[in-house]
Amino acid sequence: MTIMFYALIGVILVLVLGALCWRWTSRRRQLPCPAWLAWFLENPVVESIAGAQTLLDRIGLQTGEQGLDVGCGPGRLSIPAALRVGPTGSITALDIQPAMLARLEKAMGRAGVRNIVPRLCDISLDPELPSDSVDRAWLVTVLGEIPDWTAALKNLYRILRPGGTLSITEVLGDPHYQTRGTVLRLCTNAGFEPSQYWRTFLAFTQNFTRPM
Ligand SMILES: C[S@@+](CC[C@H](N)C(=O)[O-])C[C@H]1O[C@@H](n2cnc3c(N)ncnc32)[C@H](O)[C@@H]1O
Repeated sequence: MTIMFYALIGVILVLVLGALCWRWTSRRRQLPCPAWLAWFLENPVVESIAGAQTLLDRIGLQTGEQGLDVGCGPGRLSIPAALRVGPTGSITALDIQPAMLARLEKAMGRAGVRNIVPRLCDISLDPELPSDSVDRAWLVTVLGEIPDWTAALKNLYRILRPGGTLSITEVLGDPHYQTRGTVLRLCTNAGFEPSQYWRTFLAFTQNFTRPM
């Protein structure tokens, strides 16, 4: 019994230390959530904490709009977002990992969705998207994985149309979790104006507007 107890404490300590190291390293170099962990993003627990439809309601995505899913992963939000904007709108799904985009493309095939443009690139480098071209952009559990926040937010500011929405969701327990204070500071420094805010027990969403 005692051995089991100490083994359990040991495993928890290793997990916590591993998460802290991952968090620390991600501030200095790219170390994203690996594609083999994609199943974790799509499990019912994550869905109950930060469900795709709830987040799309918060983002305010409407029929016919152009959306940008930054750090789309396996497409947990991109697919329902594409269905929401319909054939007159489209979603650009951007990720730095080919394996995540491969999962997204499989999911697009299964869902019969055609209005998603997968794009392999880093949001903090030049994503080569036209200026003022997107109505709404969102980062769901992505911000903390980006080492160069300033460059990423500068690019997002350029790509969003004036009056467009930037939406950031953070989930407690994510090793890359960022507090609301950090999110507010980074985005207001980049020129965005805070708008709506939602908080549940384990997650929050903070929206911003690019001023007109
Ligand atoms: C924790 S996953 C979240 C995936 C998705 N947003 C979701 O909620 O299911 C973070 C994703 O962001 C991507 N990512 C990390 N840094 C990025 C960057 N600089 N540019 C684009 N994508 C990035 C990772 O490859 C990974 O797929």
